[in-house]
Amino acid sequence: MSIPAIIAIDGPAASGKSTLGQRLANALGYLYFDTGVMYRAVTWAALQRGVAIGDEKAITELAESLEIDVYPPSQNDGRAYDVLADGQDITWEIRRADVDANVSPVSAYAGVRKLLTAQQRRIGLRGKVVMVGRDIGTVVLPEADLKIYLDASVEERARRRYEELCQRGQPAEYQKILDAMRQRDQIDSTRQVAPLCAAPDAIIVDSDHVNADQILEKVRALVDQHTS
Ligand code: DC
Repeated sequence: MSIPAIIAIDGPAASGKSTLGQRLANALGYLYFDTGVMYRAVTWAALQRGVAIGDEKAITELAESLEIDVYPPSQNDGRAYDVLADGQDITWEIRRADVDANVSPVSAYAGVRKLLTAQQRRIGLRGKVVMVGRDIGTVVLPEADLKIYLDASVEERARRRYEELCQRGQPAEYQKILDAMRQRDQIDSTRQVAPLCAAPDAIIVDSDHVNADQILEKVRALVDQHTS
């Protein structure tokens, strides 16, 4: 067998998907594509333009008209890629707390998902890609050669997010982060369209009590097994 051309990594918020995806893609010389940025870009644009998050029709229309681009990083400021919305660099803007708080309902809208899924699928089918999200192995690219579902307890994920914010010097309260993460998990896993769940043929990797190096090592072994 050859090296898997399409690798899907799914899992809940802050389970370590982005770090794993980025490092794996680098190691294999593949494109790293973090699909969450697309839902975040739509959410950011809605907040920016004063479009009500609860207005499904208006949010879907906004998603239809918004041009989202992802390019290799243009700056050496810790970013893994540039995210542009209608030509504007919003790479860091989409990590704002108000985007975090509103992205789950936006990503639950069927019209928004249909639109973004089609764009993600087109990019993924070119191959040599590590695609990260919630529904890559189940909906976006069910034909992926290797599917990883990265999991961790909600307490551990909240602790990681808390430390991330502290490191960036941003205000953070562990209990608030934990509550918000529980709420996001609930919305992401119970929504009607493409709920967060592991594909039947996904390999579940638990990232509690293991560091990023150990997870990478484990997944590289899975890639090697697939290849041999
Ligand atoms: O991975 P993230 O935190 O950047 O994702 C932001 C939101 O987008 C999150 O609420 C889940 C949603 N999402 C999704 O529904 N499907 C994807 N493929 C990626 C993200």
